[in-house]
Amino acid sequence: MNSALDKQVISLLNEQIWLENNASFYYLYLSNQFGENGYNGISKFFLEQSNEEREHMLKIMEYMLDQDSQPLIPNYNFMEDLDEEFDILSHFQNSLYNERQVTESINKIVTKCKEINDVNTENFMQWFVIEQREEETKFKSIIDDLKIIGDSGSGLYELNKQLGTLPTEE
Ligand SMILES: [Fe+2]
Ligand SMILES: [Fe+2]
Repeated sequence: MNSALDKQVISLLNEQIWLENNASFYYLYLSNQFGENGYNGISKFFLEQSNEEREHMLKIMEYMLDQDSQPLIPNYNFMEDLDEEFDILSHFQNSLYNERQVTESINKIVTKCKEINDVNTENFMQWFVIEQREEETKFKSIIDDLKIIGDSGSGLYELNKQLGTLPTEE
């Protein structure tokens, strides 16, 4: 029989749900931005990122429900406050910054779990720890490529094509 989670863990998991939801909306926003500017491959890449972030949110909700704890459904997204000028490099840099904040939040949950000896949640969060390492590496390597590409049209053409044909993650 599952028991309810610790109060502090519940509130940290709800914060995590909030962050995953924000990330999902942010990447959806970027998908539209790139689409509007004709980068259909990069647009597709960010749509896929957005869907993944939503999956992360749902994963945490499912875990909380399994543990007889109530997840909070985010009722607000910060998109209304967002006004970023279209800039390919800075969109990716902001994405990496966003991923690092998510990683920090996940580490906070793991630390709390260790402190109160919540082995289940700690174990559940390991998937996210690995996922975040992959996400950060992915964005970092695209940023590295963009720095090499600079203003080269053919470089951007290639990157757009490459990101549009990345295999879908499972
Ligand atoms: Fe995520
Ligand atoms: Fe992510």
